[in-house]
Amino acid sequence: MSSNIVVAIDGYSSCGKSTLAKALAKKLHFIYVDSGAMYRAVALYFLRNNIDMSDHVQIAEALKNIHLNFHSRDYQTHITLNDEEVSEEIRQMPVSDKVSAVAAIHEVRAEMVCQQQRMGKSKNIVMDGRDIGTVVFPHAQIKLFMTADPKIRAERRYKELLPTNPTITLEEVFENLAHRDYADTTRKESPLTRADDAIILDNTDLTPVEQLQFALDRVEPLLV
Ligand code: CDP
Repeated sequence: MSSNIVVAIDGYSSCGKSTLAKALAKKLHFIYVDSGAMYRAVALYFLRNNIDMSDHVQIAEALKNIHLNFHSRDYQTHITLNDEEVSEEIRQMPVSDKVSAVAAIHEVRAEMVCQQQRMGKSKNIVMDGRDIGTVVFPHAQIKLFMTADPKIRAERRYKELLPTNPTITLEEVFENLAHRDYADTTRKESPLTRADDAIILDNTDLTPVEQLQFALDRVEPLLV
């Protein structure tokens, strides 16, 4: 049995999973993996190449041609799609509008989960997403399930997007989050749900420092 530690963080769209996961990984010197960035990069490839999402042959072919890599610089997510840095483009609305449909495809999930499991095989890791504690690492030592008030989540994401997308509206962001939450929780394949042994973290009224402390209080006892 491997003795590496896996921290699995799941939860709704834009509720601070990656902020917490990055801070936790930095503090503990663990590897951070943003699984959502992988689905976003696949969605970007599908968009650019007009992949027909009902055509399983096209999907299988596309997946063979997609090569994703993470380059960690100070715990920020830097992801390349076939050697092109796409970290910023995958956060923009065209990808956000498409990603949940792409992430619902069986073949896409099977490939991503396989790559994610490989990353957490022997190293201490913090991974955030929707199915990390339920499907990717059902035996993770620590599972957090994050949630926050939908209006607060939309405001946070709106502020994050505004510098690179000055025409974006709060309503548009709110709609996208609501749409993705619905799609992610109701899909057939690995729907977003809390693992029975996941600890709920509602960060509506917590600062990033407070939510980090909440997580550290639960992870640090495992490290002694
Ligand atoms: O950052 P945000 O919470 O908005 O989303 P994300 O983590 O970047 O994930 C984008 C989308 O990818 C989600 O809405 C899901 O549809 C999908 N996803 C998934 O299905 N499974 C994961 N483990 C991670 C993301």
